[in-house]
Amino acid sequence: MFQLLNIAVHFLQRQFRSLPAPTASYAGRTVIVTGANGGLGLEAARHFTRLGAARLILACRSTERGEAAKADIEQSLLLTDSLHTGTVIEVWPLDLCSFDSVRAFCRRADKELERLDVLLANAAMLAIDGVQMAEGYEMQVTTNVISNFLMVLMLLPLMRRTAGRWNVEPSVSVVSSEMHFFTRFVEKNQPRIFECFRPGGAMFERYGTTKLLDILVVQELAERLDASSAGSSPIVVNTANPGLCKSSLFRHVNMVVRAALGLVMFVMARTMEHGSRALLAAAAAGRESHGRYVDSGTVDDPSSFVMSEEGKAVQKRVWAELMEILEGIEPGVTANVTQSSS
Ligand SMILES: NC(=O)c1ccc[n+]([C@@H]2O[C@H](COP(=O)([O-])OP(=O)(O)OC[C@H]3O[C@@H](n4cnc5c(N)ncnc54)[C@H](OP(=O)(O)O)[C@@H]3O)[C@@H](O)[C@H]2O)c1
Repeated sequence: MFQLLNIAVHFLQRQFRSLPAPTASYAGRTVIVTGANGGLGLEAARHFTRLGAARLILACRSTERGEAAKADIEQSLLLTDSLHTGTVIEVWPLDLCSFDSVRAFCRRADKELERLDVLLANAAMLAIDGVQMAEGYEMQVTTNVISNFLMVLMLLPLMRRTAGRWNVEPSVSVVSSEMHFFTRFVEKNQPRIFECFRPGGAMFERYGTTKLLDILVVQELAERLDASSAGSSPIVVNTANPGLCKSSLFRHVNMVVRAALGLVMFVMARTMEHGSRALLAAAAAGRESHGRYVDSGTVDDPSSFVMSEEGKAVQKRVWAELMEILEGIEPGVTANVTQSSS
């Protein structure tokens, strides 16, 4: 009870904090934003354009929605007289429900991009009922975790090359959520954790569990990247929490839950633009944020479970299982954590 109260107070303190508009320049930089056709991803992409990114890839599952987002960004910046940056915006197909799509996207990036400075792994889905399977796992797990890290690992060599050639520190920010505090992660003691991720069971907590998994995997990835680079990885990886925002994220949940959420959203949710500032803050947070949870723009501790000895042990098991799954999808991909392929 006391712990829940603590979490609630912490959430409210963060939620009502005003986040400064991002100002760091992205001149010359190449940025990928997944799920950039709407919600926080679109607003983050708009900021990267305003801040002068040289090349911006909007990674969207619908090319049509992606092109509409591109037009929307260009139009809005024209209206505010800010489209002086010369950003080349491209829409590339990426469907995180399909491993083939993720592989094709990453191969294209490796071939066509000269550099990759920022990977904002923003795309995700939330569902409670009527959930389907994708690639053998419950769709939220496939989208929010497995495909996300398949993409991150496949893009590591390009980011390492970027670091070496331009003497920069590329960043990967995986968008997590406050909801990771509220899951019991009931699957954590099962012998094969990922095999438990089927529709049914603790579906109310599944989204929070995927966001917890993101934090565990990023922590482990950061440690392993450091270990393979004499203690200091050339790439910064972190997780980002934008706080509660008025987006379309809740469109798959039933009317009852949506109605219950309505008042809370009205009173305290951030606008999508405001929430997207937290994502840019994570992308620019640098070494201090490596392996850490960037909550509303500030490096902070994740849940007490993540910090506990039990959490650390579960983190190792989650990592081992996920690496086995990724090897099955793309043989050799896990070696990207320890070695560059130039
Ligand atoms: N909104 C909040 O209160 C809140 C709070 C904490 C964390 N977050 C996190 O913030 C991030 C952005 O969410 P949002 O609030 O902006 O939600 P949103 O409006 O629903 O946007 C989600 C984006 O992800 C894309 N996406 C979903 N499934 C995909 C797939 N299989 N392949 C490729 N793209 C896919 C969506 O594309 P389509 O348009 O094609 O569906 C959309 O562009 C998510 O990681 C979310 O978990 C949000």
